[in-house]
Amino acid sequence: MGLFTFLLLSLLGLACYTSAEISPQIGVCYGQLGNNLPPPPKSVELIKNLKANRVKIYDANPEILKALKGTDLQVSVMVPNEIITNISSNQTLADQWVLANVVPFYPETMIRYLLVGNEILSQPDTTTWFNLVPAMRRIKYSVKKYKLHKIKVGTPLAMDVLESSFPPSNGTFRSDVSVKVVKPLLQFLNRTKSFFFLDVYTFFPWSSDPINIKLDYALLMAKNITYTDPVSGLTYTNLLDQMLDSVVFAMKRLGYPNIRLFIAETGWPNGGDIDQIGCNIYNAATYNRNVVKKLMSKPPVGTPARPGTVLPAFLFALYNENQKPGPGTERHFGLLYPNEKNVYEIDLSAKTPESEYKPLPIPTNNEPYKGKIWCVVAKGANRTELASALSYACGQGNGTCDPIQPGGKCYKPIKSLVRHASLAFSSYWAQFRNVGGTCYFNGLAIQTAKDPSYGSCKFPSVTL
Ligand SMILES: *[C@@H]1O[C@H](CO)[C@@H](O)[C@H](O)[C@H]1NC(C)=O
Ligand SMILES: *[C@@H]1O[C@H](CO)[C@@H](O)[C@H](O)[C@H]1NC(C)=O
Ligand SMILES: *[C@@H]1O[C@H](CO)[C@@H](O)[C@H](O)[C@H]1NC(C)=O
Ligand SMILES: *[C@@H]1O[C@H](CO)[C@@H](O)[C@H](O)[C@H]1NC(C)=O
Ligand SMILES: *[C@@H]1O[C@H](CO)[C@@H](O)[C@H](O)[C@H]1NC(C)=O
Ligand SMILES: *[C@@H]1O[C@H](CO)[C@@H](O)[C@H](O)[C@H]1NC(C)=O
Ligand SMILES: *[C@@H]1O[C@H](CO)[C@@H](O)[C@H](O)[C@H]1NC(C)=O
Repeated sequence: MGLFTFLLLSLLGLACYTSAEISPQIGVCYGQLGNNLPPPPKSVELIKNLKANRVKIYDANPEILKALKGTDLQVSVMVPNEIITNISSNQTLADQWVLANVVPFYPETMIRYLLVGNEILSQPDTTTWFNLVPAMRRIKYSVKKYKLHKIKVGTPLAMDVLESSFPPSNGTFRSDVSVKVVKPLLQFLNRTKSFFFLDVYTFFPWSSDPINIKLDYALLMAKNITYTDPVSGLTYTNLLDQMLDSVVFAMKRLGYPNIRLFIAETGWPNGGDIDQIGCNIYNAATYNRNVVKKLMSKPPVGTPARPGTVLPAFLFALYNENQKPGPGTERHFGLLYPNEKNVYEIDLSAKTPESEYKPLPIPTNNEPYKGKIWCVVAKGANRTELASALSYACGQGNGTCDPIQPGGKCYKPIKSLVRHASLAFSSYWAQFRNVGGTCYFNGLAIQTAKDPSYGSCKFPSVTL
């Protein structure tokens, strides 16, 4: 072999090595907060059908890890929030957890990421914040001890870990965690060549300010909107790049300019409540397809601050999950319905040309809803639970349930639990919405634009 060939081969080898370390692949978050989801083996089949190359779970469910054995899906497993504090001060406990939850499945199940906790720095319990990095160090030690060499240890954080994200060059970590948590975290990630795992959604900043942020910019489909950061001089063509770079600049500010980003979650809701904007199938399909196209492009595009870099990612989520608390959007992030059907077509390997997709339903909620909304009992609500929700709503006082008391305008028909509960829900929500009251009641309630009033019984409404 001549010297030239040798050099060429070494160069190629080097190139292969670097790109093999992390290839542009897209995974899916397999959340399980639903009581109607397909079982793990079926779910694994569906994940493969989406052409995902990775899957992230929010625990270490042995049924799922078993179902993933022998597949070529790379897997991310999570250490639950609740045990972080104990693990942080007890190496035996860390060893036991890894031994019980990871070792039995490795390497046949291709576990590659061990995420310690979920959005810990967004949780109200501040004790866990300060135990996070010590727990990660112990988990890392166990990973080494059991020779799980391919596993990186990290922790996914949400955008609220920043106190400033605009302009991107002004990205700064929150002062309550910057020195005591984030700096040691970055030192750990840098030393172990791991990633900064970030949950990043353009939907949230856009939906809270749809006037100043253009929808197309948030959906990565703006043709002629750009933003130039006045300090860095970098020009942005979409909101996702801006958000990612704000984290890059925040890390740089703390002295760590080179830690790789890993998108631990991104996505867009395909539905939600009437009082929520822009949550629909059209936008969800558009956002997720554009993210796949961007992240799978070859050569990689990266972001303005890190052009040409690979950004590995997990899309959130595999299924619409009916038991997630919070506003309706939370239960509508799925690529699939629980009945296994696609919410819209998507190919995470980016091999299907856009022209092959069927047309999407025209969005009807891209402008804020204007009109009245009522809060009524959802279909199929459990009567036992409904009765206790009714007394909860009435117990909030302020005359919430006066109309359904004997002699009230909505007292009759007296045996109708559903009508009484609907009245109580509407009344509760109308009075307490502006102080944080929601129309949810553990899934028993749903918003409607159709006036449920009957006879002389008038339901209170929220007017937007
Ligand atoms: C943590 O450790 C304490 C003391 O050993 C124990 O009482 C507690 O149940 C543990 N917590 C968890 C979540 O395991
Ligand atoms: C650490 O955890 C192990 C296993 O649960 C337990 O037996 C031991 O008592 C713990 N050590 C301390 C100092 O709490
Ligand atoms: C930059 O971030 C700081 C907080 O870290 C904030 O006070 C300031 O307003 C931000 N600058 C701009 C231009 O938004
Ligand atoms: C981060 O890691 C790189 C590569 O190992 C090293 O050169 C650098 O000094 C580290 N940075 C800090 C601030 O420790
Ligand atoms: C470009 O911007 C102009 C003015 O902001 C707008 O009217 C037009 O629709 C945009 N064109 C495209 C292709 O987005
Ligand atoms: C209704 O809810 C109660 C309390 O949660 C539960 O015990 C019962 O099994 C449920 N009934 C049905 C039909 O699901
Ligand atoms: C309570 O009732 C009053 C009078 O109807 C109303 O103005 C107020 O908004 C209600 N809600 C709360 C939280 O006080």
